[in-house]
Amino acid sequence: MSFSSEPPPEDVTLEEILGAGPMGRIPNPYGLYRKLRNDDPVLRMPGALGDDAGPGSVMITRYDDVRDTLRDDDRFSSAIVNRTMGAVMGPTIVGMDGRDHLKHRALVTPSLAPRALRGDFPDLVERIAHQIVDRFASKGEADLRADYTFSYPLTVFVQILGLPEEDADTFHEWGIDLTLVAHDPPKGLAAAQKMLDYLEPVIQSKRDVPSDDLISKLASAEVDGERLSDLEVVSFLRLLVLAGAETTYHLMGSCLYALLRDPALLERVRADRGLIPKLMQEVLRWESPIGTVIREASRDTEIAGVDVAKGTNILCHIGSANRDERRFEDPNRLDIDREDNEHIAFGFGKHYCAGSRLALLEGEVGLNVLLDRLNDLEAVPGEAFDIIGFSFRGPDRLPARFCARA
Ligand code: HEM
Repeated sequence: MSFSSEPPPEDVTLEEILGAGPMGRIPNPYGLYRKLRNDDPVLRMPGALGDDAGPGSVMITRYDDVRDTLRDDDRFSSAIVNRTMGAVMGPTIVGMDGRDHLKHRALVTPSLAPRALRGDFPDLVERIAHQIVDRFASKGEADLRADYTFSYPLTVFVQILGLPEEDADTFHEWGIDLTLVAHDPPKGLAAAQKMLDYLEPVIQSKRDVPSDDLISKLASAEVDGERLSDLEVVSFLRLLVLAGAETTYHLMGSCLYALLRDPALLERVRADRGLIPKLMQEVLRWESPIGTVIREASRDTEIAGVDVAKGTNILCHIGSANRDERRFEDPNRLDIDREDNEHIAFGFGKHYCAGSRLALLEGEVGLNVLLDRLNDLEAVPGEAFDIIGFSFRGPDRLPARFCARA
């Protein structure tokens, strides 16, 4: 079973795409990415990342180049993330290198590892999914993005953090504002401050009376014999809210987009739920929720035979890499039966997504619950909806109608 979205001719420009913002409404960009992969796989982008004074920026779009760059942390550093985003996010592990990165990453991985996600955890996730579906199931019609996929991952995540469930949507709004920092700095900074104001007293109280949640663990964690400061804990939490909510919500949204666009695929998946993990893996490749990640050359080097000077910013285009015709057969086709699907939607190398297991668990449970609860699910006829965005990608809306199962 397959579903193809042939990219249009390359009439959208990179300037339009970059100017539209991280979740901007841009036309289907995959025709342009194909052209870049073929003609200019190491594209120089003077001044694109606010780097007019330095050696500049390049964007790489081929699978092998992106994967090799992410793997090679000797030649390519992540420190640029903390230099650019640090003012808003504070120091986070995505922007650390070497031992520093390993020591800090080890503080969160146990809470997100498969072991931590067993036991009662899947039941808790399922209960949250049902609670959210309860709010709209009897209405017969809903925007599954606004009414379902938006709230669900973060409601799960606030449980892991040990915060009240009713604060999930507020957190998510702040998370979205954080993603806008390059385009709307005052909004990003205001969100970062609101999170700090909210979380500081929480961290204090969890230091006084710790429990089994992730905030308590971070609040009492030590690196090299020193406890993390409040700001370091808050920075971690800002990253996790951003990484944990924004991405999983887009993954689930794009899965539902594919199902609503292809009724035969929807019926096949409804009848055989064992296909949901395959659907998610293929959607991760086909519409990668995180479009780009960034690195910096730590010495003079080359990528695909092109000289790259020390200090050059490198925008690694995961979304384009996952549609590279050199790596994937018929890459614009969504084909859940695809056997060779080594996508890099969760990154590659030392910074490989720490929350991938959680995202896949949430996605599988959430899609199953929706199919269990809603019969005759279909797109509302005549209503437009699309997948949008550059650095994050997901549907703008998911207008659907259905009958609630008694
Ligand atoms: C579909 C969902 C997700 C996608 C597509 C995704 C994608 C990614 C990617 C591409 C990276 C690599 C960044 C880089 O190399 O610079 C990353 C890192 C990370 N992700 Fe995810 N992510 C998802 C869900 C989650 C969830 C649910 C969490 C946890 C709450 C999470 C936590 C993290 C963390 C902590 C890192 C930093 C790892 C490090 O720097 O060592 N992610 N993610």
